[in-house]
Amino acid sequence: MTAPAPIAMLAELTYRCPLACPYCSNPVQMAAIDSELDTETWSRVFREAADMGVLQLHLSGGEPASRRDLTELVTAAREAGLYTNLITSGIGLTEKRLMQLDEAGLDHVQLSLQGSSPEMADDIGGYRGGFARKMQVAEWIGKIGFPLTLNAVLHRRNLHQLPRAIEMAEEMGARRIEVATVQFHGWALKNRDALMPTREQAQEATQIVIAARTRLKGRLVIDYVPADYHESYPKRCMGGWGTTGLNVTPNGLVLPCHAAQTIPQLTFDRVQDKPLADIWHNGAAFNTYRGTDWMQDPCIDCDRKTIDFGGCRCQAMAVVGDPSATDPVCIKSPHHKDLQTQADVFSGRDDAPLIYRDAPAKTSEPAE
Ligand code: SF4
Ligand code: FES
Repeated sequence: MTAPAPIAMLAELTYRCPLACPYCSNPVQMAAIDSELDTETWSRVFREAADMGVLQLHLSGGEPASRRDLTELVTAAREAGLYTNLITSGIGLTEKRLMQLDEAGLDHVQLSLQGSSPEMADDIGGYRGGFARKMQVAEWIGKIGFPLTLNAVLHRRNLHQLPRAIEMAEEMGARRIEVATVQFHGWALKNRDALMPTREQAQEATQIVIAARTRLKGRLVIDYVPADYHESYPKRCMGGWGTTGLNVTPNGLVLPCHAAQTIPQLTFDRVQDKPLADIWHNGAAFNTYRGTDWMQDPCIDCDRKTIDFGGCRCQAMAVVGDPSATDPVCIKSPHHKDLQTQADVFSGRDDAPLIYRDAPAKTSEPAE
């Protein structure tokens, strides 16, 4: 089938990261540093992306500020005509570096928030002093005048801080906040028992978001990814497989979504071997779940099949062991009840330790 051009590309510049978040969605086995794409290759990929119709480039990681050539990469992306968004924890950014990025044409910054108190943020990020550094970076971002999105990743340990996170977005002058309940992909899957929100927390978060959207209409946009384990219908993951976006990993693999490497049935092309447009239109990984032909019962005859495209393929793989299955979040899935029971069991394990991204032995008690 012919796919329209993707709107956005996520460039995972590196898997290196000073933080050790237990909710990290990057793969458990990460590519080595010495296999990262170099400046020249990324610059070519940015031009190929723009030529095929991509409009927005999200520079992500790991921590993209860990790349010494970040400013050069932003310059290359702007020269290619892409709108550039830096997705960062803030750690590794100085005022001088931010000013250089501004001169290079960086359009937007998305700052992650691990918690809205220093204790919580430093505990979840596994990085002492990280919150204070982030607040300093937020001040520089405001001073330089970058449009800002705050990205709050929420789970059982920090969901009670959601109202404060929204206040912080207002105080920082952010235009948007993403309230993203943790998704269990990659490393995060190891922490389902430590991070799974309770049903009550999930419901309360939805109410808080609804009220804040009304109160802040016209001032702050709130994007919301609910705790889908407790929902009745799945999210339209990635806007539909192979419809709107693609990801390029630090070593050049082109993925339909950031967790696609968890699906063993898929093979991925590399930007070193083929043009990006060829991979997008003809790559096996993109065509496997594009459209609706791959669907099984009950999706195949469902009137929502072009609304949610059967939900998340990676979640079907992780929970059911079959990436072509209906997302078990869906009430019509034969696995829905099991999933909800599992979610209730996980969310009751209050003594579960956090398993940090880089140090399996590092554990911690919940912070207040
Ligand atoms: Fe969506 Fe499939 Fe559930 Fe229908 S059966 S609502 S298409 S996930
Ligand atoms: Fe891969 Fe949802 S994260 S399809």
